[in-house]
Amino acid sequence: MWNNVVIVGAQWGDEGKGKVVDALAARFDIVARYQGGANAGHTVVVDGTKFILQLLPAGIVRPDKTAVIGNGLVVNPESLFEEVERVEKAGVPIGKRLVVSDRAHLILPYHRSHEVAAEQARGVGKIGTTAKGIGPCYEDKAGRRGLRTGDLRNFEVFRRKCGEVVAEKNRLASAIFAGTPLEADGLAERYYEKARCILPYLADVSAYLNREMDRGKRVLFEGAQGTMLDLDHGTYPFVTSSSAAAGGACTGTGVGPTRIDAVVGVSKAYATRVGSGPFPTEALGVEGEKIRERGGEYGAVTGRPRRCGWFDVPAARYSARLNDLKALVITKLDILDHLAEIPVGVEYDLDGRTTTEFPSEIELLEGVKVRYHVMPGWQQPTYGVKDYAQLPKKAQEYLRFLADQAGVEIAVVSTGPQRDQMIWMKEL
Ligand code: IMP
Repeated sequence: MWNNVVIVGAQWGDEGKGKVVDALAARFDIVARYQGGANAGHTVVVDGTKFILQLLPAGIVRPDKTAVIGNGLVVNPESLFEEVERVEKAGVPIGKRLVVSDRAHLILPYHRSHEVAAEQARGVGKIGTTAKGIGPCYEDKAGRRGLRTGDLRNFEVFRRKCGEVVAEKNRLASAIFAGTPLEADGLAERYYEKARCILPYLADVSAYLNREMDRGKRVLFEGAQGTMLDLDHGTYPFVTSSSAAAGGACTGTGVGPTRIDAVVGVSKAYATRVGSGPFPTEALGVEGEKIRERGGEYGAVTGRPRRCGWFDVPAARYSARLNDLKALVITKLDILDHLAEIPVGVEYDLDGRTTTEFPSEIELLEGVKVRYHVMPGWQQPTYGVKDYAQLPKKAQEYLRFLADQAGVEIAVVSTGPQRDQMIWMKEL
């Protein structure tokens, strides 16, 4: 029996983790997000009401669950409370069900301006970030000049630290760039005025989670983005700036690895990527466009069209190893219903060498040639199917092929956006 489980994106994000976390949350007491920020867009549909959650864990839409924002996240309190308001207006009270780590880092206005300037400076090599200030905030965290939610507990401390950081940034900017200095006057006051509503929610999340686990409570750890966007293990430098892979669940919440029982990966039945960077199985042209239209593949946060392509076996195997996946959830199977043939990328050709390993060098990845195995399509509707036996035989074969190739058992298949449009093949 798995008490404490990590849900991780097995691809480049947007795998449908929001729905999966929402569905699984029924069997847990606490849902804890462990990294990222409002760059995520987790969609959950409950009784026809659509929630797009950016910072709040997807478990928040279940009124009997506690939602935790771990130390591994970067938080803009103003947008957090706008989100809280949106969820409450949609009829889901939050009250005391939200716990925010007092070690989570704060996004300040200068993080966004820094990000916009950095992306512009990169020109054609830009990463295509979500422009939420996420990267520069993590940069300040690693640079030991970040401000944390706990700093808001004492306004004088917050103002002093804020002034010191602005002064350091200005010294650096004038030494290197001679740019327009940041204005320190009034920044702390203006920020504090909007941010202080976070104070009643602050807690030592590590102490809280470990105590609750000692009492027998079950925790679902919710990852954002996906393994291939992980800062260390993804397609660097075209990655996000946090530890999106399962390992981040420990550093991002303060829970030891041996307290976690299993990791479940979420993957689409095909693949998508938003932003720049290598995407070996990308389907350019009409095929990709068709999937985009059928799958509604537009960013939940930015509205950007997602790049679409085929299931990538080397990426899936890589993700299975990195996260030690014990089960896979395959989402959006129904989007492939129309296809007569479905290519699956099974091997990479790297400079004449065939491999199923995912290479670390971006230059190799950019030049990779993919060998495809073409599966017959089922060309019958699977939308909303809840029973495996009701799936067309060819859809079953397709799923079996993905599981065999990835080396991970498929536990759940999602066939639509609603909570109950799922096939449970294995009890998790
Ligand atoms: P950042 O996380 O805003 O710094 O963006 C870095 C990269 O990660 C860009 O390619 C983004 O498009 C991508 N990214 C960030 N968040 C998500 C997400 O939730 N889903 C998919 N891609 C994301």
